[in-house]
Amino acid sequence: MSFREIVPGVFNVGCLDPLEREFHVHEIGRGTSYNSFLIKDTKICIIDTVKENFCFDFVANVKACLAGKQGEEPDDSILEKVEVIYVLHTEQDHNGSLRYLHSKCPNAEIVIGKKGRDNLLRWFPESKDWKIKVVANGEKYSLGETSLELLETPLLHWTDSTFAYMREKKIFFTSDAFGQHIGNNTGTDSDIGEDDLLIQMKVYYAQVFAQVIQPTLKMVADCERVSTGKATPVTAGEEYKAPIDLSGIDGLLPAHGLCLLRKSTIERSMRLYRRWAQQIPTRKVIILYESIYDTTGKMARKLKSTIEACSAGALTEAMEKEPNPHPPTPVVVELMCARRNTVLDVVHEVLDAPVVLFGTATFNNMIMPNLRKLLHVIQSYRFKPKATFAFGSYGWSPLAVKDLEKIITTDFKWTPIHDTVSCINEVDDGVMKKLEEAGIAAYKAACEKGLPGTCLTL
Ligand code: FEO
Repeated sequence: MSFREIVPGVFNVGCLDPLEREFHVHEIGRGTSYNSFLIKDTKICIIDTVKENFCFDFVANVKACLAGKQGEEPDDSILEKVEVIYVLHTEQDHNGSLRYLHSKCPNAEIVIGKKGRDNLLRWFPESKDWKIKVVANGEKYSLGETSLELLETPLLHWTDSTFAYMREKKIFFTSDAFGQHIGNNTGTDSDIGEDDLLIQMKVYYAQVFAQVIQPTLKMVADCERVSTGKATPVTAGEEYKAPIDLSGIDGLLPAHGLCLLRKSTIERSMRLYRRWAQQIPTRKVIILYESIYDTTGKMARKLKSTIEACSAGALTEAMEKEPNPHPPTPVVVELMCARRNTVLDVVHEVLDAPVVLFGTATFNNMIMPNLRKLLHVIQSYRFKPKATFAFGSYGWSPLAVKDLEKIITTDFKWTPIHDTVSCINEVDDGVMKKLEEAGIAAYKAACEKGLPGTCLTL
């Protein structure tokens, strides 16, 4: 039983799930949390609930918070104080304990947007008999001294997703947006380093929002518009750097991870959401491969060492065979093994990489299985086109590498910047030479397409 006051009168009564290692089918490393916020005003209001298997702990947190004492578990009658349950999004990680909470709060009215109401009837058919208040986009619901104003944020993360803005305290309750998978803390951004938090936010962003470019940009503009009455439109390119008027925003309280209260974290989070939405490329090459006896691994490492040599200003003679408009420019190159790196490790790096190279050994005449799964996942995110080529090894049939090339150029519609490099059994001098040429092409493409800095640069 625990609760934590985030801002005066607003408490996180959600639950930590530090041992969870899977979220939306992908592996996560630090667990996650399901935040629920209890507001103490004239009307007691609870925003969202938690995953169903935490329902008893959750309601214990609510009761302790209502009593104002950590570790207390008062009688259920204290739940009669709850007058409002405000539902931002009906996915089960936030809605799973709603039936139980509702059954314990006899005086509670459910407040919810229109699309959420439709979904709620599917999840809980008995809710047709519940006391429900459907609120429109922009509609204000008074709790006494404070109020909650609904902001529709479709596709962040479901069509029914909404935010609530508490104008009197200048805070947005942001549902999935600005979340992070941090499963050991229900606190705020002052609890960990800002860059650590932002990288966790990017991993979460890539997993859940990478496909929803325009809704993300609109959401950031809407937050500024709702809180200040004006908005900076961001449509494309470097406008992601445009400043945001934060005079009306003192907090972003997401449904997963830490709450954002520092102005610097809030500003960086909102502007980085714009950057990540537009998939602004950094000078980075990702080499994603899977090997059996390490022949494909050697090929991957040769590509990596070539790109690193170019970055350091070596290989000048080979590079000068073709005009190079970007003499030595640092390019980050990351080797990622499909059997060792998690899907989310890969997806969030691919998000802002202008060049992604794919290598496979041959498995029963087909692409290696872990790489095949990653190709499926990457295709599902429909990233903006990237520069690419395929490489790999085989014993007697080159079909796997050919199939790989077809997937990344025809299915992904990415741009090939070099011919496929294949190798029978073991890497020889001829293959090494081709890999050097291919690595130089990858380096040049990263220089031309990527911007200096990192995925956190503004
Ligand atoms: Fe955290 Fe879309 O649920």
